[in-house]
Amino acid sequence: MAKEKFYITTALPYVNDVPHLGHAYELIVADTIARHKRMKGHEVYFLTGTDEHGKKVELAALNKGIPVKEFVDSLVNKFIELWKRLNISYTDFIRTTEKRHIKGVETLFEKLVAKGDIYIGKYEGWYCTPCESFFPETQLGDNYLCPNCKRPVEKVCEESYFFAMSKYKDQWLNFVKQYPERLQPETRRNEMLKFVEKELRDLSISRSKNKLSWGIPIPKDTLEPRLRASNEYVFYVWFDALTNYISAIGYGYDEEKFRKWWPADLHLVGKDIFKFHTIIWFILLMAVELELPKLVFAHGWWTIRGEKMSKSKQLVVDPNQLINKYGVDSLRYFLLREIPLGEDGNFSEEALSIRLNSELANDLGNLLYRTLSMTEKYFNGSIPNKAQISTGLDEQLINQSLTLANEVIQLYDELKISQALERVWNLIRFGNKYIDESAPWTFYKTGNLKRCANILYNILETLRIIGILIYPAIPESANRIWYELGIDAKIENYTYPEILRWGIIKSGNTIRRGVPLFPRVGQK
Ligand code: MSP
Repeated sequence: MAKEKFYITTALPYVNDVPHLGHAYELIVADTIARHKRMKGHEVYFLTGTDEHGKKVELAALNKGIPVKEFVDSLVNKFIELWKRLNISYTDFIRTTEKRHIKGVETLFEKLVAKGDIYIGKYEGWYCTPCESFFPETQLGDNYLCPNCKRPVEKVCEESYFFAMSKYKDQWLNFVKQYPERLQPETRRNEMLKFVEKELRDLSISRSKNKLSWGIPIPKDTLEPRLRASNEYVFYVWFDALTNYISAIGYGYDEEKFRKWWPADLHLVGKDIFKFHTIIWFILLMAVELELPKLVFAHGWWTIRGEKMSKSKQLVVDPNQLINKYGVDSLRYFLLREIPLGEDGNFSEEALSIRLNSELANDLGNLLYRTLSMTEKYFNGSIPNKAQISTGLDEQLINQSLTLANEVIQLYDELKISQALERVWNLIRFGNKYIDESAPWTFYKTGNLKRCANILYNILETLRIIGILIYPAIPESANRIWYELGIDAKIENYTYPEILRWGIIKSGNTIRRGVPLFPRVGQK
């Protein structure tokens, strides 16, 4: 039977600077979902990349005095290096300066032209470069600041190519009313509905080359005379960037690949760019009669000391430094556990240290360490025989392991990653309680090795299951648990149904206790 496919994407960060914590968060969430889907047996295409055109990037290069292409080439490596350190298991990395992407953008434009949805008009309004966004005067308020980032906007008055977006208003409204579950969370969906009902306009999709040269040129030679603008134009950066979701998988050059993967199952984006994805992107797809994504999910934003991250205010944290100090999985765990997906969160090293010490070092680290130490001491490091007799407490542990496992999978499915981890920690705490209450040391002392073996087998098996359940979120530690349990295979070589059963760990295998999984850190 063919595997079910799952196509997941992240937003493409602008490469005007090095990656920050917000970018890392989005990639870690997407990676967790991708790993979970693979464990379910899906064939996964996980796409990320970089958004390299536009005014913002052009200005950043100009400020550094470096040619733009050279500037983006060097920054892209910073993203790729960080994703490697964070164990981001992407399938494909697309740069919007690549040929395949340019082909996709040109194809989309040609189709829109053929549909009669492109016209030349005059754009008069305001532009925010940090947001790469057009705003009508009515949205600016008295002080003429960008309604999104509150920074000054610039007046734009130029001839432009327009996409007749407003023509699709009713089609969009009907679609969203019919399939509300495709835009999540609900509060953001309602904002979009309000916006489209009241404020949807046609979209300017070009910038004149004398205002912006760093972009994909509009192929005007191939256009009918009516559409030959007087000036040279490049595509508006959002028209360019959104197209990555289809250009990466073959749109305009590899029909078979494209048919296989489209539509996307999940576009994971930050709340600030939900509008671009659910309105502009949806309508572009409607216009060219492509299927719409199954889900666009907006995650929240991380702040620092309650404020938006900002380099000028020194409110930034470098993910690389956090990895150096706390380790990859501590950072992954903290970001995933601290806030339910969709909500905002405040980042602090204090909060990270607290979770690291109590949940990773104490709860999980101790459970593993004490179990392995006892296995060494009582059974020379060899996994004891599977239980013959069992008590009520044993049965409770087995039942908890299996029922919690199902709940955790269900929660990952619903993108409730924080809640999934919370459940796993219930099992971990129950495991510690099981050891305390079963007190294997008393049986060892009195020579009842059968019962002692019984208890240790149960807890070693529970640890094997815990490894599987934390794998999507903290894969490196999960595999280290398996390794220390004496299992040679990697978790990702299996699917959940193959390994989420009770009684699989092999008696007689030798455990490999290492240094503590999560060393405690000093709290500030
Ligand atoms: N280039 C566009 C996206 C184009 S997608 C076709 C862009 N880039 S960005 O670099 O500004 O943001 C990339 C992603 O990072 C977005 O989803 C954004 O919401 C997310 N984040 C940026 N700062 C963030 C936080 N402080 N916290 C969480 N995520 C944040 O938008």
